[in-house]
Parts: sequence; structure tokens; C-alpha cells
Amino acid sequence: MKCRKCGDTAALELRRHNAAFCSPHFIEFFRKQVREAIRQHRMVTTEEPILVAVSGGKDSLALWDVLIEEGYATAGLYLDLGIFDYSVESRAKCEAFASARGQRLIVERVEEAMGAPIPVVQKVTRRPTCSACGLSKRYLMNRAALAHGYAVVATGHNLDDEAATLFGSVMHWQTDALPRQSPMLPSTHPKLARRVKPLYRLSERETAAYAFLRGIDYIVEECPFARGATSLAHKEVLNRLEEASPGAKHNFLFGFLEKARPAFERAEGVTLVECASCGQVTTGTICAFCKLADHVKRAAPS
Ligand code: AMP
Ligand code: FES
Ligand code: ZN
Ligand code: ZN
Repeated sequence: MKCRKCGDTAALELRRHNAAFCSPHFIEFFRKQVREAIRQHRMVTTEEPILVAVSGGKDSLALWDVLIEEGYATAGLYLDLGIFDYSVESRAKCEAFASARGQRLIVERVEEAMGAPIPVVQKVTRRPTCSACGLSKRYLMNRAALAHGYAVVATGHNLDDEAATLFGSVMHWQTDALPRQSPMLPSTHPKLARRVKPLYRLSERETAAYAFLRGIDYIVEECPFARGATSLAHKEVLNRLEEASPGAKHNFLFGFLEKARPAFERAEGVTLVECASCGQVTTGTICAFCKLADHVKRAAPS
């Protein structure tokens, strides 16, 4: 197989694009997809510094690499969930990446904010681990962005992540979740940072290839709290569809974003106010994070 651009031996075939690329042209293709995502959704301006949420995995470190290479001013944000060796190792990957590139890495510990690390939170609440964890991550990302003066937070969600989330929402007709499914969530309150997903046009396989070709050292292991079986099942279903018909995932997600999403947007929107306890945005009086932290403090042995 030959590279579509230069005719050299191709390193990677992209059936969805009916194309193959050599390493340098794949890297160029990858960055072009990120530029296109940023341009199309007006994710950031070139002058705006970006806080990149990095987990130590391939997607978020690949994203950070692209944004640095594209000339953005960035800092990384690592959220230490306190999940045993997994957290220790993933933090080390982020620190090594940041220091090799002379970038700042901000570290926030869930334990400090919540009063207990994620494994303890899981024990004292009946919520599925990833729901408490996801809630904490969103909260701490916004809090760190505000504290350090960033108007925008970028995450490494890729095409597979976004298609699987959409599939899950549609399977259960979670119509409240559908308008929030977007590569760019604008700020709707002065204390809410914009959230962007510049990798949403790129598949998991493509981010893995990019990370490999760029020599990025990332943590391969997944979080030991196995993700919900359902979200894995959704990814599997979509992979089978993709196998049978390349481009299926892309068409599913992009078709939704272009044609269906507007139909689910609610005209009135939600009104955000400041949490009476911590001052971060919420729709109620006390935000979900403060409620969870309070629950943990009462239940957890100190
Ligand atoms: P996940 O929900 O684990 O698939 O992660 C989605 C995105 O959230 C990643 O690409 C990161 O940008 C961000 N993220 C996940 N875990 C962390 C973490 N511990 N610290 C900072 N950002 C994270
Ligand atoms: Fe959230 Fe595993 S990363 S529970
Ligand atoms: Zn080439
Ligand atoms: Zn609060």
C-alpha cells in the first residue's frame, strides 16, 4: 500500500477515508483533523491559553502534543484520583511528558477536594465508580481552570468515545444528555470554562498510531475499576459496524451533530447559579460535588 500523498510505503491504512499514509503524512493528516475541529467549532483562538486535561493515556497526551506543535500556549492538568498504582503511574507519565517539553503541569488531588480518594468514595456511595469519578473530574477541571485563569479546558475524547456515548444516550433515549453531546460546550456562566474535544474527528486507532509515531510514552493499562460493561459493549457494537462498513461511526456521530442535535436543544436552557457551599456553578442550591463530598465525610472513617 502506498501513501496517498507521496507514494512511499504506507504506515497506516484508513479505510474510513479510503486512504493510506506514510508516517510523516499521517502525522500531518492527524494535525489537520485537529485544526479542522478547532476551526469548525471555534474551539479556541490562537491567543487563548488552553488547559489540557491529561490522564496519562494516549488520547490526552496526543492532544497535548498536537496543541503544543500547533503553537498554542498550554498547561496540562492532571487529576490524581488516588487509584493505587494506576494513579501513581499515570501521573508519572504526565510529569515526564510535561518536563520533556518544558510545559507546566498542574496537579489536583481528588482526596484533597473530596476528603477521600476515589476507591473510598466508591465504597461509601452506592453510585457506580465512574459516575462519582466523572463528576469529580468535571468539577475539578472547571475549578482548576478558574483558579489558574484558563477560559477553556480541552479533553482527549476521540471519535470512538463520542460515538459510544451517543449510542448509549440514544439506546436509553436520554434526551437531556443529547444536547450536551458536542465537541464544544460553550461557557454559559462567568464561572464556567468552555469545554472542547479537538480529537473528536479521530478514532482511537488513529490516536494510538499518532502517539506511537511521536514516541509518546503513555499508560497502556486502563483504570482498574473496569468501566461499565455497557459502555464497552457499545464500543464493541460500533466496532463491528465499522468493520462491516467503514465510516459507520463517523456517520453516526457526524450525522447526529449536523442533523439531529438541534432538534433536542431546549429553547429555555438551564439557569446556572453559584453553589452556596463552594461557589462553583450548579443548577440547584448545593452542587453535586459538595453533596457527594458531604456524604463521603459523614460516611468515611477519618
Ligand atoms: P475518560 O473519561 O477516562 O475516557 O477520559 C476522557 C478525557 O478526560 C481524557 O482524554 C482526558 O482529557 C480527561 N481525563 C481523564 N482522566 C483524567 C485525569 N485523571 N486527569 C485529567 N484529565 C483526565
Ligand atoms: Fe474513573 Fe476509573 S477513571 S473510575
Ligand atoms: Zn507520504
Ligand atoms: Zn459546591
